[in-house]
Amino acid sequence: MISIAVVVLSDKGSKGERVDESGQVAREMVQSLGKVVDYLVLPDDQARIVDTLKNLSERGVQLVLTSGGTGVAPRDVTPEATLQVCDRLVPGLAEAMRAASLAKTPHAMLSRGVAGIRKNTLIINLPGSPKAVRENLEVILPALAHAAAKICGDPSDCATV
Ligand code: MTE
Repeated sequence: MISIAVVVLSDKGSKGERVDESGQVAREMVQSLGKVVDYLVLPDDQARIVDTLKNLSERGVQLVLTSGGTGVAPRDVTPEATLQVCDRLVPGLAEAMRAASLAKTPHAMLSRGVAGIRKNTLIINLPGSPKAVRENLEVILPALAHAAAKICGDPSDCATV
């Protein structure tokens, strides 16, 4: 079981003007993977997102799932904040999500979400709607426990699946 944080990026959600459903979808979907130790709803403010991601990593949270702010609107800055804090990228996670999502909606190509590693923390950007969170997270969920173990230095040989 791994430690997980869910960070929802939404100007409206952070002001209480929108009920956060997407973060709840993520929280439910990762239950079998580990414990959600932090759940935050923040405005689309790059500096605040950077501070939050650094802090979660410093505390040793193994997986951070962000939701929202990955698109092309002026205030969508989640990928920029994530790139600012990551030491290494894991492009395959974002590639897999976009590839699978394109079969569902052409708007999938508008998500600029990235995935990367800061110290022992894997940070993954998901698009913001509850539907998008479900459709993207279900694609990568089977790889996340193995990813977290490897990031933390698990020396065992990789299984074939
Ligand atoms: N991916 C999937 N699987 N399903 C969706 O409904 N929505 C798209 C896209 N990715 C969507 C999706 C839309 S409409 C947008 S604008 C982008 O994600 C960015 O969303 P965000 O700005 O909320 O992060």
